Amino acid sequence: MKVVLISPHYPAEMPDFTRGLADVGAQIIGVGDTPREGLPAGVRQHLAAYLRVSALFDEGRVLAELVPELRRVGVDRIEALWEPCVLLAARLREALGVPGMSVDTAMAFRDKTLMRARLAAAGLRVPKNARARSAAEALAAARAIGYPICVKPVAGAGSADTHGCVDEPSLRAALSTMGHVPELSVEEFITGDEFTYDTVCVEGVPAFESVAQYHPRPLEARSQEWISPAQIVFRDPHHPALMDGVRLGRGVLKALGMGTGFTHMEWFRKPDGEVVFGEIAARFPGAKLVDQMNYANDFDVFREWARAVCWHSFEATPQRRYHVAAVFKRALGRGRITRVEGLGALRARCGPRLIAEELLPIGHPRRDWKKTLLSDGCVIMRDPDYAACLDMMQAAVRDLRVYAE
Ligand SMILES: Nc1ncnc2c1ncn2[C@@H]1O[C@H](COP(=O)(O)OP(=O)(O)O)[C@@H](O)[C@H]1O
Ligand SMILES: [Mg+2]
Repeated sequence: MKVVLISPHYPAEMPDFTRGLADVGAQIIGVGDTPREGLPAGVRQHLAAYLRVSALFDEGRVLAELVPELRRVGVDRIEALWEPCVLLAARLREALGVPGMSVDTAMAFRDKTLMRARLAAAGLRVPKNARARSAAEALAAARAIGYPICVKPVAGAGSADTHGCVDEPSLRAALSTMGHVPELSVEEFITGDEFTYDTVCVEGVPAFESVAQYHPRPLEARSQEWISPAQIVFRDPHHPALMDGVRLGRGVLKALGMGTGFTHMEWFRKPDGEVVFGEIAARFPGAKLVDQMNYANDFDVFREWARAVCWHSFEATPQRRYHVAAVFKRALGRGRITRVEGLGALRARCGPRLIAEELLPIGHPRRDWKKTLLSDGCVIMRDPDYAACLDMMQAAVRDLRVYAE
């Protein structure tokens, strides 16, 4: 089983997915534009070969460089789990006749307007939306949809350049900062709670499902620096209170023609109870959610993803033992991390339920909070009881402080 894995070392979860492929017996051919020596040793050790391309984001060039070489080698799978490379993987598959997600299917996991058109056609509830290529088109679309609206890039990630606008002046203000975005999605603004629906699918059927809730919604967390973004992976995604979101998710996978691999979907529950689709991607979710799935289930979803991709099976049984909360901290102040307050109290409160402490070390420069989902580090807690998990999450949000100067 020869598997091409694009970007085997980045983002942060990729070394574990690479290791997962090795665990299930794949012969891994890494592809990237980083020099081989620049890869972490933990990744290099699992690669049977590494093909360095000149520029990963220049699709035409990558195809020209890789197709003849991969044809010569002969490969069974071509996988990418990093959003900007998902389409490239599909193009390579098509050029080489390798099974897996087609370009047409991958497009709908990437282009938010196309995605929603296909879902609406299948009768699924999506926000009213329109594509706009200029400020004038965006203003016209907003008038047709009605305020408040949400405006964002058609091919976005991480809430970058995403704005909620209550009226035309606020939309104009938002548009004035978005000149660099080639295509916009203008949407009905959905209020309420926001969740994920994440899966590993085998031939279109979810072999593993997971649901998480964001605290608060990513749009708020990404627009206010003082917020500590947090999220809880639910112990049991099949709890009756979550099942309408799960059913929506299953419908989405079917409508978009999902095959085998990881998916990450976001959905809303409005105050009146209605569930509404947000977006979906053909990759794993970032910001520690994969670790949280593993902590919730005491299994290794990296390896099971690999097994699904290579052998179309998923063997581990999700244990569904814990609700798992992750809390991300943003340092107060600028410069380097100088001290952490409240960690001792959090340890005392949580005991062994505090399962990961990954705050930046003292002296480390703090990160740009707008550019990272990880902020200046995180803590992860778990408990079989939801209220107890929520309580630990709130304590970490409120009482744990990181300072920089
Ligand atoms: N139509 C909408 N109504 C209300 N909020 C939205 C809407 N679309 C997106 N958002 C908010 O913006 C965030 C980012 O948008 P999303 O579509 O998930 O793009 P990204 O690819 O950047 O994650 C969402 O998590 C949600 O909080
Ligand atoms: Mg999103």
